[in-house]
Amino acid sequence: MEEKIEQLKQEAANAVKQAVASIGDLNDIRVKYLGKKGELTTILRGLGQLSKEDRPRIGQIVNEARQQLEQLIAEKNEELRSAELQKRLGSEKIDVTLAGRRPARGHLHPLTLTLMEIKDIFMRMGFSVEEGPEIEKDYYNFEALNLPKDHPARDMQDSFYITEDILMRSQTSPVQARTMENHEPNSPIRMIAPGRVYRRDDYDATHSPMFTQIEGMVIDKGISLADLKGTLETFLKQIFGEKVKVRLRPSFFPFTEPSAEVDISCVMCKGAGCRVCKGTGWLEILGAGMIHPNVLRMSGYDPEKVSGFAFGMGVERITMLRYGIDDLRLFYDNDLRFLKQF
Ligand code: PHE
Repeated sequence: MEEKIEQLKQEAANAVKQAVASIGDLNDIRVKYLGKKGELTTILRGLGQLSKEDRPRIGQIVNEARQQLEQLIAEKNEELRSAELQKRLGSEKIDVTLAGRRPARGHLHPLTLTLMEIKDIFMRMGFSVEEGPEIEKDYYNFEALNLPKDHPARDMQDSFYITEDILMRSQTSPVQARTMENHEPNSPIRMIAPGRVYRRDDYDATHSPMFTQIEGMVIDKGISLADLKGTLETFLKQIFGEKVKVRLRPSFFPFTEPSAEVDISCVMCKGAGCRVCKGTGWLEILGAGMIHPNVLRMSGYDPEKVSGFAFGMGVERITMLRYGIDDLRLFYDNDLRFLKQF
C-alpha cells in the first residue's frame, strides 16, 4: 500500500513538472489525483477496509502525499502565472512619451455668446439679471401689462395656450410685473431679463415660433425719456461699434407711453441703403418706452412718485446683424459647419 501511494505521488509530481503549457493542464492533474474520484482520494475512501493497525498509518501517508501534491500544484501555478505575465509585459509595450489624446471640446453657441455680452454690458451699468417662467400666467403676460382680455393688441401675440389662463409667454415683458412685485413698492429697479419666448409664427429665414428676447426696465424717481435714450445708445454703441447712429421713432405698445421703435444705422451699408435695410439706411432693433402708469399701479408702484422706462429686443436679430447671418434657422439646426465658425 505504501509503495502504491509513493508511486502515485511520484507520478503526479512528474506530471506537474511537465505541465508547462497552461494552467488548464494543472487543473487536469489535480482532478486526476485529488478530485472527488481522484486516485489518492479513492485510497482515502477505502481506508475503512484496512485493519485497525494499518488505518491511521496509511491515512497519514495519504494525507501527507495529498498535501505535498497540493503544494507542488500551487507552486507550479504561480510559476505559470508569472511566466504568462512576463510574456504579456514583453509584448504589450506602452509608450509613455506619446502625447495624450485631446478630448473633443464643444464651445458656446452664437446666441449664448451674444447673450453673455449683452448681460455684461448691462451689468457694468448696474443692472441685475432677472428671470421669469416660460410657462406664464395670462395675468403677467397680458393683463398686468395693460392688455385686458379683449384688448386688440393681444392678437399679434395670442399664441400657445395651455389652459384658459396659462400660456407659453409671448414676450419677456411679464418679468417687469414680477420684478416689481418682488420689490418694496416704489423702490428703484434696474434690471434685464433674458429668456425664450413663444409665438404662433412661421418658421422661415426671419421668423421662428420660439426665439430669445431681453427685457430691460429701470424705475426710480425722475426717470425720463432722456435716460432711456442715453442707456440704449450706450448699449448699442458697445454692441455695434462707436460709430453706430441711434434714432427713436414713435410707436405703440400697450404697456409704455410714449412708446418708441429704436433703429440703428444699417451695420451693412453704414446708412447708405442696401438690401438688408431695404434701402432705408436704418435697422429696427428694439421696442421701448416709458412705463405706462397703469402698469406701475397694477404692480404696486405709484406713478406720482416714480417713473421708469422699459425696452425689449430680439437676441437672434442682434446676433444675425453682428455676424452677418442671413437665416435665423441656422441657430436651431445644429449644423456643425455653421456652429464651428464661432
Ligand atoms: N415686449 C415687446 C415685444 O415683444 C417689446 C417691448 C418691451 C416694448 C418693453 C416696449 C417695452 O414686442
